[in-house]
Amino acid sequence: MNKQVASQELDLARITQLITEHGQQKWALIPLLHKIQNEFGYIPPQSIPIIATQLGLFPSQVQGVISFYTQLYTQPRGRKVVRVCRGTACHVRGGKTILKLVKQHLGIEEGETTPDLEYTLETVACIGVCALAPNMVVGNQVHGHMNPKKVEQVLKKREAKP
Ligand code: FES
Repeated sequence: MNKQVASQELDLARITQLITEHGQQKWALIPLLHKIQNEFGYIPPQSIPIIATQLGLFPSQVQGVISFYTQLYTQPRGRKVVRVCRGTACHVRGGKTILKLVKQHLGIEEGETTPDLEYTLETVACIGVCALAPNMVVGNQVHGHMNPKKVEQVLKKREAKP
């Protein structure tokens, strides 16, 4: 279960427990990183020296593995990931404007997460549904033929929050 724990609430003892449960072998590093990310929503940077010590690695080696795999994150992620397509088909049909509006609406830049941990904003090279351009994805749902009004509609639940 993804707890999306804020860094100030981080339970380092739980991370040590996960390492112990997972086995302190070097080959266990990647499964361990996934386990920590699944539980905390990301790999807290403070956990990297602990993981390194327990597995007999340098912190730079652990950081290197995290950096190599794009699905591993050292920053908290939003419960929903918004991906705006920046591919050619979407670009020529206004994708740049869609991205700008989404940034304004969420108040974050590409690669950032809203303070309430609701949304993370990313861009992608192509979603694979170019005929519907311009496109964006929220969670697992593709939204095609995007326009300014649809951006508001797709993200309107956020506005309804107090
Ligand atoms: S370029 Fe946007 S879906 Fe392909």
